[in-house]
Amino acid sequence: METQHIKFNNDNGIATLCFDMQKQNVNKLSFEVLKQLQKLIEEIKNDSSIKVLLITSAKEKIFIAGADISEIKQMNDEHEIYNVVISVDAIFEELEQLPYPTVAVINGACMGGGLELALCCNYRIATSESKTKLSFPEIKLGIFPGFGGTQRAPKVVGLINALDLILTGKVIDSKKAFRIGLVDKYFSEGQMEFKIEEFVKAILDKKLKTKKRALNLMEYFSFTREIIFKKAKENLVKKVHPSFKGPYAALDIIHNSFGNKLKEGIEKEARAFASLAITPESKNLIDLFFISESIKKDYKNVKFDGKIEKTAVIGNGVMGKGIIWLFSKYANDVRIKLRHIEQVESIISATTKLYSFFIKSRKMTKKQVEFKLNKISYTQEFNGFGIIDLTLEAIIENSEQKMATYKELEKNLAQTAIIATNTSSISINSFSNDLEYKERFLGIHFFNPVNKMPLVEVIPSKYTSKENIAKSFEFLRRCGKMPILVGDCAGFLVNRVLIPYINEAGFILESGNSVASIDQTLKEFGMPMGAFILADEVGIDVGLKVANILYESYGERMKVSSALKMVHNDLKLLGKKAGKGFYIHNKKGDMFVNIDIAKNLKNNTNIATSKEITNRAIFIMINEASRCLEEGIIKKVTHLDFAMIAGTGFPAFRGGLLKYADDIGIDYLVEKLETYKGLFGDRFTPSDLLYKLKQSNKTFYTGEELWNH
Ligand code: NAI
Repeated sequence: METQHIKFNNDNGIATLCFDMQKQNVNKLSFEVLKQLQKLIEEIKNDSSIKVLLITSAKEKIFIAGADISEIKQMNDEHEIYNVVISVDAIFEELEQLPYPTVAVINGACMGGGLELALCCNYRIATSESKTKLSFPEIKLGIFPGFGGTQRAPKVVGLINALDLILTGKVIDSKKAFRIGLVDKYFSEGQMEFKIEEFVKAILDKKLKTKKRALNLMEYFSFTREIIFKKAKENLVKKVHPSFKGPYAALDIIHNSFGNKLKEGIEKEARAFASLAITPESKNLIDLFFISESIKKDYKNVKFDGKIEKTAVIGNGVMGKGIIWLFSKYANDVRIKLRHIEQVESIISATTKLYSFFIKSRKMTKKQVEFKLNKISYTQEFNGFGIIDLTLEAIIENSEQKMATYKELEKNLAQTAIIATNTSSISINSFSNDLEYKERFLGIHFFNPVNKMPLVEVIPSKYTSKENIAKSFEFLRRCGKMPILVGDCAGFLVNRVLIPYINEAGFILESGNSVASIDQTLKEFGMPMGAFILADEVGIDVGLKVANILYESYGERMKVSSALKMVHNDLKLLGKKAGKGFYIHNKKGDMFVNIDIAKNLKNNTNIATSKEITNRAIFIMINEASRCLEEGIIKKVTHLDFAMIAGTGFPAFRGGLLKYADDIGIDYLVEKLETYKGLFGDRFTPSDLLYKLKQSNKTFYTGEELWNH
C-alpha cells in the first residue's frame, strides 16, 4: 500500500509510514501530502495485524520540514484558512488515536508541522547527528504552531519548555530534546536500525522505560502558573515588537486553553491562527523567508578548485578578534600575523569569551572548545603563509597601511590564495589597481559583532574572478553567514544607507528633540535600537570616521550632523566601549541618557513630532537605497531589503526598507521628500529613480526594468 509521497509497509506487525515527497529534496506537509496521509490512516486504522507503527522519512537530512509555506502564503481568506487548519487537526487527531503504539523516528530536521505531527505519536526517538534539529519556527513567519502544537507541546514537555520553544522559534538538538522530554531516546545514526528494534521490542514487551514528564510545581498550581505567564509576557514585551503578533497570540492561546479539553484548545488555536495568517506582517515575513532561500543559492552554480580550509587574519582589534573566533570555529587553521607578541593574550581572552556561551548553553564541551582554540597559531614574520587559502585583513581604516599589508602578503602567499579586506569604506578597486594578481582580491565586509551578525557584504573589484567570489561565498556559508554581493562604492550598501539615518537623528536632536525621545520613536517604528544607541554600540569614533568618508564621497547630502561631531570632538566620547556616549553605560548593562549632550547643544525648540522623526530618518534611507539600485550597487530590490534587515535589523515584519516604501506609496514618499527638502535642505531631494517610479506608476517591487538596464 502506498501513495505518491508516503509509503506503507508492514513487516510482521512492525508497520512503517515512510514520508518521501516525490520530486522534492525535503518532506513538507502540503495539502496533497496531508490528503495522502489521511487516506493511509483511514486504510490502516483498523488493521489488527499492526503491533507498532513507525513514522519515518526517506530523505537523508529531513524528517519533515513543516507545512508548505507557499500554500499558506496564497490563502487570504480567514474562514478558508480556519477550515483548512481544522481539517489538518482532524487528520492529526486520527493519527493520535490509532489503536496501536506509534513512534516518530526523527533522523533529520523536524520542524513546525513536522514536529506537531511527531507530537501526535506516542513516542519520539531521534538520531544525535547535527542534521537532527527540532523546532517550532512559525513565529519567524508571523504565525505560530497551528496544527495542535500550542496544545500538545505543553503536555509533553511542560509549560515552561513549551513556551521557550514556541515563543522563540529556537532550534534544539536531540540531546536537548531528550533533556526536556520532547524525545524519548536518542542514538547515533549508525546504531539506528538496532536501536529502533530495541525500542519496539521494549514497547511490545511492555518494558519501555521512558522519562514521562510531570508538571513541575510552578506549573501545577494556578497562581504560580500565572507567574510563569506574566514573566513570559514581560519578556516578550521587552524583546518583541508588538507588530510581531505570532508569539503574543501563541502565549494568549496557551494561557487561555491551559487545562482545557484538547478539542477546545485546538479550536481556539485554529481561530487565532487563521486571523494571524492573513495579516500583512505574516505575508511579509513569509516573502522574506523565500527571499533568504533564494539568496542562499547565489553563486552556487559557479565551479571552483579547492575549498577554503586554511585561513589567516591580520589585525586583531574589535573586528579582527571576532573574525579569528569565527574562523577558528569553522575553518581548519587560523594563522595570525602579529606586530607584538603581547597581543596573543588579548586574542586568547576574547576568543575564549566568545566560546564561553557555547559551553554555558551546552552546545560545545570544554574539550571541543580547546580543540578549536588549538587551531589558532601565531607568527610575527608571515611564517606559514605559503599554505594559506584565504587571508582576511582587518587592520585600521587607513589606505596606505592596508596597501602595505597587501604588498607583504603578495610576497608570502601562494599565487592562488585569496586576499580579502574588511574595510568599511575604502574602494576595493582603488586597492586592486596596484596588486600583482588582481583576480584574487575582494572585500569581505563583516558586521559588528561578528559572532551575532549574519550578513556579510562581498565586494568584488572589476578584476576579481567569479571562482574566487564563489569560493568565498561557499566558505562564508560554511561559517553560518549570509553573504550578499554588492558593488564597490564608499560605504558599500548597508553603511551607505544607514549613515544618513544616524545623521538625520543628529539633525533632529540639534533642532530640539531629546536623545531619548528620538530613540524611543525609532524603536516604536520597529528598529532594533534608536540611532543614538546604535552610534554608541558601533563606537562614535568609528561611526564618525565612516560618516566623514561618505561625506567626502557623496558631498552635501551626507553632511555629518554637528551633534555627532560635538560628542566626539568636544566631549571626547567614544560610546559604549568607553562607558560613555549619548548614553552612560554601566557595567551591569544599564543605560542612562548622558545629560552632558543636552547641556552642550543650543537650546532649540523646533520639536519634531513622532511621525516626522520616523519619516525623516526612514525616508532618507529609502532615498539613498534607491540610488544604490540606480547605480547597480545591488541588483535586486529583494536583496537590498534582505541586507537591510540582516545588517541593520530593519523591522522584518515590514518586509524590508523598500517594501515599506511601496506600502506607504511612491507618490506619498516623493511628496514628503519634496516637503522635507523645502524645510530641511537638499539632502531630501528625491532620487531620479523615485521620480521614474512615480511617473511610470510603478513600485520598487514592480519596476525592476527602470534600474536594471
Ligand atoms: P580596531 O581599531 O579595533 O583594530 C585595528 C587593529 O589593527 C588593531 O589591533 C591594530 O593593532 C591593528 N593594526 C593597525 N595597523 C596595523 C598594521 N599596519 N598591521 C597590522 N595590524 C595593524 O579596528 P576595527 O574596528 O577592528 O576595524 C578594522 C577594520 O574593519 C577597519 O577596516 C574597519 O573599517 C573595518 N570594520 C569595522 C567595523 C566596526 O564596527 N568596528 C565593522 C566592519 C568593518
